[in-house]
Amino acid sequence: MIPEPSNRTESQLDRVLECLIGNMTVSVSGERLARELGVSHSRVIRLVNRLRSFGVDVQGEPFSGFRLSRLPDVLLPHELGRRLHTGSIGRPLHHLYEVDSTNAHALRLLVRGQAPHGTLVLAESQSSGRGRRGRAWSSEPGNGLYMTMVLEPEVSCSLAPLLTLGTAVAAHDTLERVTGLEIDVKWPNDLMVGRRKIGGVLSELQAELDRVGSMIVGIGLNVNQARFPSELEEIATSLRIETGSVHSRQEILIDFLATFERLYGRFIEKGPSQIIAPWSEVSSFALGKILEVDDGVRRIRGTTDGLNPLGALRIRGSDGIVDEVYSGDVIHWE
Ligand code: BTN
Repeated sequence: MIPEPSNRTESQLDRVLECLIGNMTVSVSGERLARELGVSHSRVIRLVNRLRSFGVDVQGEPFSGFRLSRLPDVLLPHELGRRLHTGSIGRPLHHLYEVDSTNAHALRLLVRGQAPHGTLVLAESQSSGRGRRGRAWSSEPGNGLYMTMVLEPEVSCSLAPLLTLGTAVAAHDTLERVTGLEIDVKWPNDLMVGRRKIGGVLSELQAELDRVGSMIVGIGLNVNQARFPSELEEIATSLRIETGSVHSRQEILIDFLATFERLYGRFIEKGPSQIIAPWSEVSSFALGKILEVDDGVRRIRGTTDGLNPLGALRIRGSDGIVDEVYSGDVIHWE
């Protein structure tokens, strides 16, 4: 696990990148960068190499000068701020080059009282990306979207899981709109292309008595990965693998935040049906799917029969009895 990101390094990386973007057509000498940042020459070289490791295509050397061959798809707050038109979601925005986990970082901010409703933590890479049920989330630098939203919904705890389903619906809509791919949502919130996973959602809750205090909602989307480690090859995919082209993470992010904000607003105003209905429409798992779910205690086999009003999956067994499952993993499906 890497330590908490250093603000100094993060802001120096931003400044090197902003300087290179501001001088796209010309080379910027290492000496000039060192002067502008007030750091040593060798520090500039380390920062440039760090940017390269996140997929930023910096050409040249310190003496001939550095330049960018193309605009990088780095999620710089300055650039995102210009294009983001949400009211509260994505504000404030914390961009990090490297972090242990955006969920862990959001929790740290929350504990310090620095994460109001809408806060977004975004990272170019994660060293300990967390998946559901204690699994790891593969977080290749610069190629995926790794982000966490902090929400303070004024709803009772029993309704909180619906926001996780809602996050999957918003991501589904964005990915279909931006790529034209057909995306499925595997219960409860796995984004799928066919039988391979392209994204996931991990929510963590801080409850106060019966109300949801704050919710940490982490989203991982596989965007431009060209391949996955062999152990994931059969079960994971990316937008690039599926479409054969590279996608703008910035465009996906901006669309997702706006889509989520609209859905969130409707949910707070009108209640659970605003999430249950669209989830049931976009997920092939809502109705008539033959599957087996592991809820952590037992395995439930049967055919799906919609969501109950709190978002639990109804599974009808061969004896006709319906189980309502609030959380779990689909381990087999037809
Ligand atoms: C899943 O297992 O399907 C959920 C994966 C969630 C991964 C994202 S990446 C950004 C955020 N930070 C984390 O550590 N995990 C979530």
